[in-house]
Amino acid sequence: MTHAQMTIDPHFVTGRIQRRLFGGFVEHLGRHIYDGIYEPGHETADAEGFRQDVIELVRELGVSTIRYPGGNFVSGFRWEDSVGPRDQRPRRLDLAWHSTETNEVGLHEFSSWLDKVGSDLMLAVNLGTRGTLEALDLLEYTNIRGGTALSERRRANGRDEPFAVDMWCLGNEMDGPWQLGHRSADDYGKLAAQTAQGMRQIDPDLKLVVCGSSGAQMPTFGEWERVVLTHTYDDVDYISCHAYYEEKDGDIDSFLASGVDMDRFIESVVATADHVGAVRGSTKRIDISFDEWNVWYIDRYHGVDKATGIDNWPVAPRILEDSYSVLDAVVFGSLMISLLKHADRVTSASLAQLVNVIAPIMTEPGGPAWRQTTFYPFSITSRLAQGEALELKLDAPTYHTGRFGEVPLVDAVATHDSQTGRSAVFLVNRSVSESITVTVDAAGLDDVSILETHTLTDVDIHARNTLENRERVAPASNDSVSLADGVLTITLPPVSWSAVSLG
Ligand code: AHR
Repeated sequence: MTHAQMTIDPHFVTGRIQRRLFGGFVEHLGRHIYDGIYEPGHETADAEGFRQDVIELVRELGVSTIRYPGGNFVSGFRWEDSVGPRDQRPRRLDLAWHSTETNEVGLHEFSSWLDKVGSDLMLAVNLGTRGTLEALDLLEYTNIRGGTALSERRRANGRDEPFAVDMWCLGNEMDGPWQLGHRSADDYGKLAAQTAQGMRQIDPDLKLVVCGSSGAQMPTFGEWERVVLTHTYDDVDYISCHAYYEEKDGDIDSFLASGVDMDRFIESVVATADHVGAVRGSTKRIDISFDEWNVWYIDRYHGVDKATGIDNWPVAPRILEDSYSVLDAVVFGSLMISLLKHADRVTSASLAQLVNVIAPIMTEPGGPAWRQTTFYPFSITSRLAQGEALELKLDAPTYHTGRFGEVPLVDAVATHDSQTGRSAVFLVNRSVSESITVTVDAAGLDDVSILETHTLTDVDIHARNTLENRERVAPASNDSVSLADGVLTITLPPVSWSAVSLG
């Protein structure tokens, strides 16, 4: 049996955990909206056509802010299409996903759904095929109480009160050649600064996110952040990070180490942002909005399910419907650990995405909704990670990975809420063959006992939940956990994610 050890001390604070860290992302993409959250004919549909079985699962998942309406979709989106009488809304080509957008669900309907699931709206503006003026128009429509053309239009459309959206993304992945209207860092930086300044003239308190690279693998990564922030440093609050991980060429060891890559990505962006701040002599700090992260088998999308052809623009096609295994969920849990370890600078994050599309929740038209394996690390972490993230003094054996070098077999983070006195530890065992017993010095926590234990693992690491077998995989309590004389002990099975709550 391999061993690891760590210390939890509530004085070793990394940063306060913002609820926005447990955000989600809903894009008009595939069956996310249509046949996902919205299916008027479904037996659980409410008066507005929203599936209540999905609403219940989204509530259980515990997502805070939800980024909307894209993603790549937003770069061809005309927001005006999505408001006003439904029967007059145009059907449009969605070039990003080669499909047809009916606009049956738009801003008002989505906001109403958010009220039902208990989440807040984070909007992205189109800086791909549109610009500053349209962004300002949308902000006037959503946030101005009344007395102007667009605010009165909102009221005429049935929404008297402003939507009061306080967090905005200035475009999406503007460095990516696949993005409609993508541009150089210099050109995007200028456009983003101009747009941000205009939006702040309407409301100086808005929280604004400028696009970072669409991934650390982009050839412009690093330099993109430097140039964009040089233009926008004084006008924005966040720079975005996006990262997707997948098992490549059967290299499970490297896949399990994805969190290490996420750690390095975050630390590189923080260093670049701080460099720009230092050059400017600024005391301001730019935070990270990690507004797209997940496991995504991206090659399958390009290889198989994307529609093509001038006469073929399906409505709500089945695309990006990844089915997640136990292995995927363990990696997913480790990505959440990485986000929490950087809670001082990652103060907002959005799981991409929520329903059907690379999602923790799946639905079948006219059929059930169910939890994928990845649902569990998210819902449990969102519920238990409260207060402040703590730095752990972790001492674990390492293993060699082809993609990320020497990596600790165990990764972990702890949280502590001084208001409730509750703490939680989240751990992952990356070994494919060995159980690891972890000894945690918890003497710094006052007189606590074990409240909950959860471990997600399976003898078949490729097991998954499917339409036919919807509850094949779920976490179970971990009977190995003990706490005596201030020492917590837990055995982590191979390829597992665990959470322990103390209080
Ligand atoms: O989440 C799927 C897509 O991934 C998003 O639309 C885009 O921003 C990213 O490339």
